[in-house]
Amino acid sequence: MSADDFIVTPWHVEGDIDYDKLIKKFGTEKITSELQDRIKKITGEDHFMLRRGIFFSHREMDRILNDYDKGKEFFLYTGRGPSGHTHIGHLVPWVFAKWLQEKFDVNMYFQLTDDEKFYAKPNLTLEETSKFAYENALDFIALGFKPEKTKIIINTKNIQTLYPIAAQVAKKINFSNTKATFGFTNETNIGMIFYTSLQSAPCFIEDKPVLIPLGVDQDPHFRLTRDIAPKIGKPKPALIHNIMIPGLEGPGGKMSASNENGTVYTTDDPNVVKKKINKYAFSGGQTSIEEHRKIGGNPDIDVSYQYLRIFFEPDDNKLKSIYEDYKSGKLLSGELKAILIEKINNFLSIHQEKREKAKDKIDQFLFENK
Ligand code: TRP
Repeated sequence: MSADDFIVTPWHVEGDIDYDKLIKKFGTEKITSELQDRIKKITGEDHFMLRRGIFFSHREMDRILNDYDKGKEFFLYTGRGPSGHTHIGHLVPWVFAKWLQEKFDVNMYFQLTDDEKFYAKPNLTLEETSKFAYENALDFIALGFKPEKTKIIINTKNIQTLYPIAAQVAKKINFSNTKATFGFTNETNIGMIFYTSLQSAPCFIEDKPVLIPLGVDQDPHFRLTRDIAPKIGKPKPALIHNIMIPGLEGPGGKMSASNENGTVYTTDDPNVVKKKINKYAFSGGQTSIEEHRKIGGNPDIDVSYQYLRIFFEPDDNKLKSIYEDYKSGKLLSGELKAILIEKINNFLSIHQEKREKAKDKIDQFLFENK
């Protein structure tokens, strides 16, 4: 573990993340209340993920807004490494991206990196990651992106389009840069070493600046992209970062698609959700009811409360009374879990229906090589 007691890289997140420290370490900027107000003014809406600091950091979001005010367009880009089924943590940047697309009426690219997960995970075949790419695409489509303005890029399928751009990028990144950024060693396979150039490629797919909503663990790739962008005559990608979503067994780290118990998948049925939350969701409560009534629980480390805050309870008043009741001991851990279970299952019953319908729509979304 690092001296800071937490690690955040695209392939490894561990420990209790101090986000102010992370901003300093990565060299990003905190989303200030001024920036929040500006976004609120332009979009006409106070998005709870901004208000609650779920999106907490950025790189040059202000430049994107300055340009937008002058009538200069941008486009959106985000992605997913298909190492398994989609879990609810993945939906955070996608839901926010969907909101941005709606408010700014801009194009959106979604990259599925089946190659990356094949390189990064010793036990996954390329057939498996490609299958998960398709499964993950269904979840993305189910969130309601506009087909006319949204394209899904699958690396192994769209390599013909990505490769000439990736080559431009790759020529400007040297081994010591990637090594220092990601901690690669002589044993790292060379697919991983080249990979950043493929994740960079969609940044330059249109001749406009790009804004990328993303989990902060993905920032290091784009730090490299931003460094080389001027060298290939392109604008630097702008970023807006969300916090890591804890796994059920949390409170630290992030939800990982490869730990089945620690993860709620979008494909889970209601009983599975109930069982997982009741059995595994880390509780901030006391060991006995008597003690809980007396001392109260700690919502700040309680994973069920965190899921409500991050995603499932957008109403501030309701969230606040849950917080206070839990803290005072009025609300028991089992009751808090029951609130979350109902929220997740309501969400998933609608999502799963849309996900089924997405199977007939997927062709409209897949990027076609020119
Ligand atoms: N590497 C990302 C992951 O493992 C996937 C990804 C590709 C991505 N392009 C992106 C994530 C752009 C955020 C933004 O999930």
